[in-house]
Amino acid sequence: MFDPSSKSSDNRNSERNWLHRPRRGLVLGACLLTAVGLVAAAPLTTAGAQSVKSAWGSGTLTNPELLQLVSQMTLAEETGLVHGGTDTTCATTLPLGCVGQAGWIQGVDRLGIPPLRMTDGPGGVRLGHVETALPAPVGLAATFDPSAAKTFGATVGLAGRATGQDVWLAPMVNSVTYPTAGRNFETLGEDPYLAGQLAAQEVVGVQSQGMIAELKHFIENDFENGRSSTNVVINDQTLHETELVAFEAGIQAGAGSVMCSYNRINNEYGCGNATTLGNILREQLAFTGFVQSDWGAVHKITDLPYGNDIEQPSARSFTDVALADAVANGTPAVAATADFPSYPAISGSDWKQAVDTSVFHILSTMNEANLLEGTQFGSHFAGTATPWVPTRASLANLQATDAATAQALSQESATLLKNDGQVLPLSKSDATSKSGGVIVMGPTAIAPYYDGGGSSHVTPYDGSQSPYTALGHLAGSAGALSYTPGYDLDGQVVPSTALSGPDPAANYPNWTLNAADTAFAGQPGLLRQQVTTDAVVSGSQPVLYTGAGAATDQLDATVDYTGAKTLPANTAWRWSGLLTAPANPGGTNWQLKVFVAQQASSQLYVDGLTSSGSGSSRKADISAYPAAPNSSYAGLSESARSHDPANPTLQQATYSVSLAAGQQVHLDLRLIGGAQPSQVQLRWVAPDNQTASIAKAVAAAKTAHKALIFAYDEGTEGSDRGGSDQAAGLGLPGYQDALISAVAAVNPNTVVVLNTGDPVLMPWAANVKGILEMWYPGQEGGPATANVLFGNANPSGKLPVTFPASATQTPMYDPSCTDTTATGNCPMYPGVAGPSPFVAGATTSYRTITGMQVNGIYEGYRWYDEKGVTPLYPFGYGLSYTSFAYSKLHVGHSTSNGVDVSFSVKNTGSTKGSEVPQVYVGSSAELPTSIQQAVRKLVGFQRVTLSPGASQTITVHVDEQQLSSWASPASKWLVGTGSRTMYVGSSSRDLRLQAGFRVS
Ligand code: BGC
Repeated sequence: MFDPSSKSSDNRNSERNWLHRPRRGLVLGACLLTAVGLVAAAPLTTAGAQSVKSAWGSGTLTNPELLQLVSQMTLAEETGLVHGGTDTTCATTLPLGCVGQAGWIQGVDRLGIPPLRMTDGPGGVRLGHVETALPAPVGLAATFDPSAAKTFGATVGLAGRATGQDVWLAPMVNSVTYPTAGRNFETLGEDPYLAGQLAAQEVVGVQSQGMIAELKHFIENDFENGRSSTNVVINDQTLHETELVAFEAGIQAGAGSVMCSYNRINNEYGCGNATTLGNILREQLAFTGFVQSDWGAVHKITDLPYGNDIEQPSARSFTDVALADAVANGTPAVAATADFPSYPAISGSDWKQAVDTSVFHILSTMNEANLLEGTQFGSHFAGTATPWVPTRASLANLQATDAATAQALSQESATLLKNDGQVLPLSKSDATSKSGGVIVMGPTAIAPYYDGGGSSHVTPYDGSQSPYTALGHLAGSAGALSYTPGYDLDGQVVPSTALSGPDPAANYPNWTLNAADTAFAGQPGLLRQQVTTDAVVSGSQPVLYTGAGAATDQLDATVDYTGAKTLPANTAWRWSGLLTAPANPGGTNWQLKVFVAQQASSQLYVDGLTSSGSGSSRKADISAYPAAPNSSYAGLSESARSHDPANPTLQQATYSVSLAAGQQVHLDLRLIGGAQPSQVQLRWVAPDNQTASIAKAVAAAKTAHKALIFAYDEGTEGSDRGGSDQAAGLGLPGYQDALISAVAAVNPNTVVVLNTGDPVLMPWAANVKGILEMWYPGQEGGPATANVLFGNANPSGKLPVTFPASATQTPMYDPSCTDTTATGNCPMYPGVAGPSPFVAGATTSYRTITGMQVNGIYEGYRWYDEKGVTPLYPFGYGLSYTSFAYSKLHVGHSTSNGVDVSFSVKNTGSTKGSEVPQVYVGSSAELPTSIQQAVRKLVGFQRVTLSPGASQTITVHVDEQQLSSWASPASKWLVGTGSRTMYVGSSSRDLRLQAGFRVS
């Protein structure tokens, strides 16, 4: 019998002979399944009349029936379930046809098992068509409101089911460990308890509608740089007291699925890691659903017996052929390499058992989701097994309610960080021309910032109002609100005075020009030629189109085919000529920009294709982006979008070039259009654009009564902000800081509205009067922001992440550390390569990231508390337009395990508002010193809404595990006995009440 623990050449946990455990899972499946709490149907405020019958847990198959189903499958049918593929059935079986989901696994028609369709989240339902873009999860976290999380989940569940989706690839419960990590906006913040409470309710919400929730990314994928290889070193206590807390909460809420991560954890990849997937996930957390790989995260066929049930997005390692061979012949032992441990031989029968186990995990989860009722054991069996699908809501009917939910969630997430002199809320008298009015600036004021980039990005329904438009509606009086870009990301269309037609003799000896084109040489503009739609190798000339209807060559004064003037579908074009840089007082750094829409591809060559053929690389390159017709910004970062409200669907690519006055470069701009008429513009941002934009903004702000500046950061999957430079990543991109400082210097009532997905530095914080963090607010962010600014909604969000005071005061920076090797005491980011743990004397090809190892359990605010560092704005912080007083703290023993903490909160202001009192527990002196303990950790919170003068007594239960620390190597929670202190307050640093109590 195969026993991985018998291997001696790797450092893996000797407990991990868990290949046997899935057999136990099969034989004792009934016991394991009942260990998972089934999620009860929940009445949902937003689901309203559209709510379909709560489906989770209503599947009728028993475990013996599920086992029988597995035993009736052919091996090919079984292996067909353990990998993704291309949905071949959506056109015929989905209400909206093929909607472009992220993943699919085929079903088994013969047995009545339907396919599973999977859509991304966690900001809504992400498909190839427009959908409701909810606020980014970090905003949800700022609500500190589990009921909002349940609504969020139910909204997604209904819309997901309406579009034929079965699995939601969310929530993401990785922590904000690295303050610049690209996907921080997709997380639920830096505190595992908060994240767990919210993730659990999202799971309950989404699964109540019959959609399977998939907690991701298991585990420690807290960064994007090098995510598919980097190794996270982390000890057992840290693992259990940070991210695992949230995964555990989601699993206890019944999450049917878990996505394993790209990165390595203690040297082994997340999707082949027997310790994390076996010992921890299946054993300690009692997870019984299916594990699915992140897209492309499987590395070896043995990842299946080591704990990953489904490979996505297609079979690369888990191919039907390879698995059939493994079952027939077993697999041989594999020797260790520098990057991988040795693997023992696995017998054919163990392979069969492993495949059966994975299939059982999938089917039992489908049963929970009520998806197996068309099988011979199901309640919809009609003599012949046929896949059966529960009723779905109509997407069209959900749209209005979902938009209202998106707006309500965004308003609830609004986090007011500063409000000196009650500069907010704005009043109608602020916005009159008599007072000087309100000047609004920043690109995201007019082009609403919905969400970050990458796989979570939902393409929103059209017609969302920008914050500026929404503010205008509330301001009432005409002329009182005005806009100036302040920070111009888009520049201007390159004027004809800087362009001249190509001279075949002087500039382009080998150029494919027509004889008549010589007439355009040196004339203002660029030569436009129609070319074939064939893609050519970079550096090659395009082929001139001479077919039917070929356009004659012409000189375009500017390249600007936008608005009503577009280029016909399925055509391709080239513009060429010279660009002559005019004198510019701002310097020599120019940005050349290509804006396009409905393109198959577009490239800009600068000084490419010279006669020698050198210098032929593409300088700006935009490939087709699957944006739905009429929708904007699908998955694009802020600097890759257009901010022109008249042309919102354009996307942009930039090439920065240094040009002295009078310097000439060849331009060659190409566009291959798509199936729709395409658009294209050639723009530039001149070196003095920054000074000019700021000067205009300053002039406008001088005479305005108040100045509102919208500023943003760019969170996206695939890269961390600032690349590997965390200090750079923490700053607002571009010259936004300079703009804010310059405006604040001339306008005493400056308010900054932030659309950031995570912490940013605010060097200007002391000089502005107001700071409002609106996060990435979803498609209704415009009206939500306007409502908060005008006081129609009272801000009540609390920071789910600490905002540092400087780039050298974050958990990822330790000025006193001395050793930057993989085993050193510096929290290295993005990591270093080190010695191989598998082959003596060899070096790994992957990097090891040491933040978690160096900081241990001191993540987020715990690090600031431990190191005595004062942040700019602490975890849990957020102001209101009213004020609250705390009193009457009492800590008493609970009838269940743990303690009950009660206290009273009173609204002492004159406006109705919500407050989130937070409960933190201090450390225990009786735990061994080898166990790290937080100075204080969050153990409870409760959002309360109070009218002026009203008060409420709140009781928060703190259970025994929250009073405990994880002890390794004993591998269990140890209660922190003795005298402890309970703190209650309005943030992690504004602790209004405290009381001692004893734990015995
Ligand atoms: C992301 C996952 C996502 C998957 C499918 C991956 O790149 O890391 O979060 O669910 O793609 O789109």
